[in-house]
Amino acid sequence: MKKNLKVANIGMMFGMCHVEGAMGYGAEIAAICDSNPDTLKAAGERYNIPEEKWVTDYMDIANNDEIDVVTVAIPDQQHKKVCCDLLRAGKHVLCEKPLALTREDVKEIIAVAEESGRKFMVGQICRFTPSFEKAKELIEEGTLGELYFIESEYAHDYMTFLKEWRADPKRHGVIGGGCHAVDLIRWLAGDPAEVFAYGTHKLLPMVEYDDATIAIMKFDDNLAGKVFVSTGCKRDYTMRTVIYGTKGTLICDNTSPTMTLFTTDENGITQDPQTIEVEVNNHNAVKEFAVFADAILNDKKVLTDALEGAKTVEVCLAIIESAKTGKIVKPNYEF
Ligand SMILES: NC(=O)c1ccc[n+]([C@@H]2O[C@H](COP(=O)([O-])OP(=O)(O)OC[C@H]3O[C@@H](n4cnc5c(N)ncnc54)[C@H](O)[C@@H]3O)[C@@H](O)[C@H]2O)c1
Repeated sequence: MKKNLKVANIGMMFGMCHVEGAMGYGAEIAAICDSNPDTLKAAGERYNIPEEKWVTDYMDIANNDEIDVVTVAIPDQQHKKVCCDLLRAGKHVLCEKPLALTREDVKEIIAVAEESGRKFMVGQICRFTPSFEKAKELIEEGTLGELYFIESEYAHDYMTFLKEWRADPKRHGVIGGGCHAVDLIRWLAGDPAEVFAYGTHKLLPMVEYDDATIAIMKFDDNLAGKVFVSTGCKRDYTMRTVIYGTKGTLICDNTSPTMTLFTTDENGITQDPQTIEVEVNNHNAVKEFAVFADAILNDKKVLTDALEGAKTVEVCLAIIESAKTGKIVKPNYEF
């Protein structure tokens, strides 16, 4: 495979993961961008990127014909404008999750990505977390039998990094961070047909939205699901995920080095649990970038394209609406 992609990275806070992802893959960093010059300088020095490659205006990247691929890690409210500008300028774009915060915005990104003919990927990085990749493999090879219940949680204390844009009511915790658990469930079990949710608000008094939400989900095929999101929890970050099937049960977490697998014998009797060791890597940016590069260089379908990102946003919006109205909401997957 060719590896001579020229990459630019926009947003130098979490976006430093993308610099590391592209460097780890072996791509050339052609530019880095942050609208805050101090943040830009710190990142440039950290990665030894020459100063002539530092830019504060992302349009300098859009207008640079040398650049093939751009990663975007800026506040979610800006994803639509920046991604659409880059796609229209002919760049392949890897954008951070969540794709956007409204149906209107995700629809526009889908349309512009399609028109552009460029590759577009949403960084739903949990799909590259080793424990979750192993879970997917065990489900697909039938080890768990038919799934009948799946639960995932996103519990992360936002107290120390709650910047203004994260406190925007449109950037509700369910969509901001909870989209990881929702996307994981969609990837492992499919699209929920209905959701119903309750919210509570006790931990982050500075935001107007619920800081904890519990949603139950009904899928086709006799399957149910649950998502718990807490953005003020008093514990370490976790995405504990439990998958129940007719032949076995799997307990895993993106922050644990072990997974627990229960299987049954030929009579359906549950056996002693097995421990599966797994690498802890909950931001596997190198694999994420490698998968995107492979899609670009070999013209493959992107696993988490704009439509996939949009469906995850849609389920999050349905959960938020249900918690607000007290009604069951059916996500609309047509965009
Ligand atoms: N995958 C994950 O687990 C994960 C974790 C954290 C954040 N994120 C996502 O990454 C994105 C960025 O989050 P963050 O935590 O780095 O936010 P942040 O606010 O800490 O940093 C954003 C950076 O982008 C810069 N910026 C803002 N607007 C810009 C623009 N128009 N052009 C260039 N630079 C601009 C800011 O100066 C800042 O340095 C968000 O979409 C967030 O949801 C994903």
